[in-house]
Amino acid sequence: MTLAANTSESIDLRNARLHKRYRNDLARSDNGDWNPVLDTILTRRSVRSYLSTPVSPAQLEAIVAAAQSASTSSNLQAWSVVAIQDPARKARIAELADSQRHILQAPLLLAFISDLSRLRAIGSQRQLAVDGLDYFESFMISVGDATLAAQNAVVAANSLGLGTCFIGALRNKPEEMAAELGLPDEAFAIFGVLVGHPDPARQSDVKPRLPLPAVLHHERYQPIDPSLLDAYDKSMRIFQKEQNMQEVGWTRKSAARVSGPGSLSGRDRLVAALRARGFGLK
Ligand SMILES: Cc1cc2nc3c(=O)[nH]c(=O)nc-3n(C[C@H](O)[C@H](O)[C@H](O)COP(=O)(O)O)c2cc1C
Repeated sequence: MTLAANTSESIDLRNARLHKRYRNDLARSDNGDWNPVLDTILTRRSVRSYLSTPVSPAQLEAIVAAAQSASTSSNLQAWSVVAIQDPARKARIAELADSQRHILQAPLLLAFISDLSRLRAIGSQRQLAVDGLDYFESFMISVGDATLAAQNAVVAANSLGLGTCFIGALRNKPEEMAAELGLPDEAFAIFGVLVGHPDPARQSDVKPRLPLPAVLHHERYQPIDPSLLDAYDKSMRIFQKEQNMQEVGWTRKSAARVSGPGSLSGRDRLVAALRARGFGLK
């Protein structure tokens, strides 16, 4: 896509993309720059139906190079990624991850690893003190690094015309997942990202987000205006109806997702699992 900045074409496209994202015109503008990067990001949606066409080695390398181009705390690069294409291994992983069908279908699963083991190895190989790795701060750094890398990977894949879907269910059974991926101590699969060619017969649509004023605060944080939540529930119900999903809106569904330890898909015991995997978390 080539777009001159601030032409009527770019302004129209900007306003159409923002309308689709929010199902309202609160962010409408007559003064909008737009470009292919914004277009790729604003049209992203989770893809859960894939063709069997493989992701090429060159595509995989470009995606991981994009992931490595993300910012990383103090350049520590405290993350790794395991690329899984073997159908038998994907099937075993799917079984550990809530039997999600799209894990079987996607030709590529990228397991993003929060990885302090490499820095630990530097300590022992070079006889350097790395005791800071025992602190929760280091775990936070690795999760942040891996997450930023993953989102870059998603944007890169989408820019190549590939579809993606995050899979948090890789955390449902952390010990078994670590064994399947051959992870050392202080390495932990925080989520997966499916990558593949979207099935054109089963396209997903852009899912609306909370109205921009519910998220964007100027200078100081403001409590949520209940009317924004009402409006969002309405947008989500319309989206759910269009997608043949249960029309429950957002507030009720989200509250149910965090209603208690039983709603966390086994991840309520994550701290214990992380400690067992060698993370200090002091
Ligand atoms: C960390 C993370 C974990 C997720 N885990 C799953 C998952 O296990 N299975 C799934 O189908 N989608 C998963 N998703 C996708 C979300 O459900 C999806 O991003 C959200 O509903 C918004 O929809 P959209 O991505 O189409 O905009 C996950 C997303 C994130 C960011």
